[in-house]
Parts: sequence; structure tokens; C-alpha cells
Amino acid sequence: MKHLFIAGNWKSNKGIAETEDWLRQFSVKWKDIGVVLCVPFTLLYLLKEEIARLQLPIKLGAQDVSAFGEGAYTGEINAGQIKELADWVIIGHSERRKNLKETDDMLAQKVVQAQNAGLKIIYCVQDEHIPIPVGIDVVAYEPPWAISAVSNWKTQDPQVAGQVCALIKKRYPELTVLYGGSANAENVQSFILQPSIEGILSGGASLDPVKFANLIKNAIIASS
Ligand code: PGA
Repeated sequence: MKHLFIAGNWKSNKGIAETEDWLRQFSVKWKDIGVVLCVPFTLLYLLKEEIARLQLPIKLGAQDVSAFGEGAYTGEINAGQIKELADWVIIGHSERRKNLKETDDMLAQKVVQAQNAGLKIIYCVQDEHIPIPVGIDVVAYEPPWAISAVSNWKTQDPQVAGQVCALIKKRYPELTVLYGGSANAENVQSFILQPSIEGILSGGASLDPVKFANLIKNAIIASS
């Protein structure tokens, strides 16, 4: 059985009431797999408290981190602040590379900040040629055109995704390699059945507690 890793990426979605609803409806039991929920900064404190209270085996993550440390950086959230609330951070997502013009150099600075604070990193790459900084934990291969918000749930061909993930795994055998891009409960098994795909980074499907729970259940079935 594969050791699975499933991450949710809520992007810029949900307020407090919607998060409380999500928690009320999210119900799935698992063991021996990692589930990380990466949410807006504004929801981290609430989710940390509620995950502890409900004893859910979910780890929390942020979706960005400041490239700077503590200090006069208006609007930034630094790695130490995130570490008080979460264990993980996504760095290098294609939406930030595109919309916020994040460069490989800036991302490398963010990686250093996250590492110094003890955060674990899910690093997103858009193809097998994107440089991956040293010392990250998980890499997510996500072709930007396959992200559900733009592709309307058209995924990368699972075999092609498997081949790209195999190339990444060959170069970085120590990293856990995920696929992301329109993954959902219906198609997740076709990705998990690829030998080099060790898990999923899910955006749109993770917003719905029932769909996300089904995605996790189906991924577990395919991995066992
Ligand atoms: P999607 O998003 O599952 O909605 O395609 C994945 C991501 O952007 O991380």
C-alpha cells in the first residue's frame, strides 16, 4: 500500500460561517495517510481550535508565506506567525506566480523563511523543468491549464501526469510527489493508480466537505 498524502487548497474562499459548516459536514475516517488543509490566513486560528476540539487528523497549512522575516513589511504574514497556527505552507502555486509575479528567486527566499521557522513545504511546479529548491518536503505537479477554475474540470491525462511525476521522482527521490489539477472523487483513482503519484493537491473539490471526503475515500481504495 502506498503512503498517501492528500492536500486541500481552499485558495481565496470561505469565511467563518462557511468554515464552521464545512467542519460540521466533513466526515471520513482514515489512518496512515496525511491530510493537510491549506486555508486563508484568516481561518487558521478557528480551524486549529476546531480540529483539536473535534480530534480530526487534519494538519493545517497556509497558502503563502512572506519572503521576509519579522519587521516593517506591511501586509506580510511571516513564517513564524504561520508556525504558531499551522505546520505546512504551499509555495510556488501557479496562480501566485502569474497574478503576483512571484519569481523563482522570491520563492527561494520564501522557502528559506519557511524552513527557518520549521514549516513543512508543499512546493508547486507547473512542469518537470521548474527548479525545485533544496529542503522541501512535498512537490505538487500542477499544469496551470488543468486547474479546475480554468479547465472546467478537464484534468491532465493520468498517464502523462504519471510520467511527469516519475521524472520528478527520479530527480528528487526523497520528495513526496503529488498531482493537482481538477482532481475529484470521480477521477482520483486514475491518478493514484500511477506508480509515481503519491497523492493529490485538490483545490475546487476540497471546498465541498462531502466531495473532499469522497476524494479521500476513493484515493485510499486505489492505494490499497
Ligand atoms: P483544482 O485546484 O483542484 O481546483 O484544479 C488545484 C490547485 O490549484 O491547487
